Amino acid sequence: MEEECKPIINTGLRGVTIASTKISDVNGQLGKLVYRGYLVKDLAENTTFEEAAHLLLKEKLPNASQLAGFKEKLVAERDIPASLVAALKTRPNESLPMDILQAGTAMLANHDPEINVQTREATENMALRLISKTPAILAAWERIRNGKDPVPPNKELSHAANFLYMMTGEIPNDEIIRFFDACLILHAEHSFNASTFAAREVASTRAHIYAAVAAAVGSLSGELHGGANTRVMNMLLEIGSPDRVEQYLNDELEAGRKIMGLGHAVYKVDDPRALILAPMSKRMGEMAGQPQWYEMSRELELKAKEAFKTRKNMDIFVNVDFYSASLYYSMGIPVDLFTPVFAISRVAGWTAHVLEEQFAEAAPKPMLYRPESDYIGDYCGPEECVLEPIYERKP
Ligand code: COA
Repeated sequence: MEEECKPIINTGLRGVTIASTKISDVNGQLGKLVYRGYLVKDLAENTTFEEAAHLLLKEKLPNASQLAGFKEKLVAERDIPASLVAALKTRPNESLPMDILQAGTAMLANHDPEINVQTREATENMALRLISKTPAILAAWERIRNGKDPVPPNKELSHAANFLYMMTGEIPNDEIIRFFDACLILHAEHSFNASTFAAREVASTRAHIYAAVAAAVGSLSGELHGGANTRVMNMLLEIGSPDRVEQYLNDELEAGRKIMGLGHAVYKVDDPRALILAPMSKRMGEMAGQPQWYEMSRELELKAKEAFKTRKNMDIFVNVDFYSASLYYSMGIPVDLFTPVFAISRVAGWTAHVLEEQFAEAAPKPMLYRPESDYIGDYCGPEECVLEPIYERKP
């Protein structure tokens, strides 16, 4: 039995700093998110996902020729193995897309020629493969589950446009591509949240990058993390029209249920990503002839802010999932693909964290994560229990 008295932290690690990072910073009080020193707002408005991915992985924004080389490498990795497509075809159509993505990510490892090479260069190559191939898995799955053949990648298209093309078989208009590209940038990285922590924890064991990313996909699938955007859209569909928002909100709060897309573990103001997504959701809704989803979201935001003040005397804020739901829906992305779409973007952040976890040069170097627990289970008196043979054990 442990004699020593240790401090117990039972707060989901809130407020506990467990490692240093140069990748991103979230200022929850001021509502600022930076990737390697750049405001995500500036990146979303002025760069492409490929530039942001370069920034995250290679630690700086690319110049024109670096970007061309980086894009070429990404484009070259867009195909997925035929045997992986064949495996997808054996899956039940009702499989959860996040499970497909997680399993597909693990399967990609089986085909990687550098899987046993533990160098920064090899791991970076694998990161590029993951960034390019996970969208291809998702797009292929969307087609397969609908009885269609996967669409081969189009090497002329950007990362964002190619995903939409592989999913639908059609090249979207430039404004939709631009919006989707911005969404990919906004979702690419967010410091030590649950899924990034999962990726880093796995990477800290020196497991390969596919194992780390697959673990992160599993973590993101939970409704308190990436799964919230799907729940936001289901909520909007249930509400049905802007005039029903107030009643819905009151009923949910009365029943003590959480409103999806509101609140955040770190932001104490509106999530800066939500502020960029909201006008895109409005414009996309107008373009799609479905303005009601944005209108309902806006009404819900305003009414919820009032209601939290009155009922709980607290401020509540919109998070990234709140407006991405209506935006993706108006773009025609199926509701159960919202979280996987979040994941294929976040692969850029996760892989950057794996690289940092395994190859950071500056001190303090990361080490194997191994927290302690406080055992509150049984002993049999002051000593350990005596093991009884199975036929003598009581029911
Ligand atoms: N709906 C209703 N009440 C909420 C709420 C929400 N979305 N978010 C927070 N609250 C309430 C909590 O119930 C709690 O009230 P209490 O003190 O009476 O128990 C109070 O606000 C503090 O919230 P808490 O859960 O402690 O905040 P947190 O920082 O630990 O949790 C989340 C953050 C994200 C888990 C939480 O806000 C949530 O569940 N949001 C909905 C899911 C979501 O959108 N997730 C995506 C995050 S990007």
